[in-house]
Amino acid sequence: VSRPAALLGPRRGPPSPRRRETPRDFSAIAERLRRGVLIFDRRFDEIFPVAVRRASCVHWTPVEVAVRVSHLLTVVPSARILDIGSGVGKFCLVAAAASTARVTGIEHRTHFVDIARDAATKLGVDVDFRRGSIEDLDPAAFDGIYLFNPFAENLASPEDHLDKTVELNETRFHSDVETTERFLASAPYGTRVVTYCGFGGQMPGAYVLERRERCAGIIEVWVKRSSAPSSARR
Ligand SMILES: C[S@@+](CC[C@H](N)C(=O)[O-])C[C@H]1O[C@@H](n2cnc3c(N)ncnc32)[C@H](O)[C@@H]1O
Repeated sequence: VSRPAALLGPRRGPPSPRRRETPRDFSAIAERLRRGVLIFDRRFDEIFPVAVRRASCVHWTPVEVAVRVSHLLTVVPSARILDIGSGVGKFCLVAAAASTARVTGIEHRTHFVDIARDAATKLGVDVDFRRGSIEDLDPAAFDGIYLFNPFAENLASPEDHLDKTVELNETRFHSDVETTERFLASAPYGTRVVTYCGFGGQMPGAYVLERRERCAGIIEVWVKRSSAPSSARR
């Protein structure tokens, strides 16, 4: 099994420490994203508590990638999109501000869900942040699914874990990847899946790779087709 650092993609430099916290009007950030203006990750991450902000360069989707992915997933107005393993909500928050999507995030760490909900309030965006796992969801409830390598942490050494609040191990990695493959396989035709740095598994056979591009890492867009020439599959 490959190393988690490679699975998670490029490591950006950690944010430099700030002298003191100043209250911010985060609704202005949402407004800028709505107008198509990109925000520096360091500025956006100020919405999160310092402890989880430090994890951003490895574990949370960069703003530029989140904007791009939200547009790739929102091919119909108000598309219902799901982030599997939503963390503190960075992808979902940016997607809700930058697109017309109706965004849901599912995350197994309760305190991350709390942080994400708090950030959504500060930003003034509407996101359905749920505590749970993929087994709790119906794939037919979503038009698009986002995966930023959610299970790679299971393969990391303990000092690289986000925290100790959930059990992490290689067996769990394989089981979560297989559950995700089954979830994707049972999704309706037309479902779009975007991966950023992969998800550790194989896309089920009915999915066709529509696009592959580089944006601070590899983004792939897959669409579930009822029938497709085998040459189109990967
Ligand atoms: C790489 S982070 C991505 C966070 C978010 N998607 C983003 O891009 O900003 C992966 C997240 O998935 C969560 N996760 C891992 N396995 C999970 C599972 N089986 N069910 C729910 N969440 C999970 C982790 O707790 C972590 O917050």
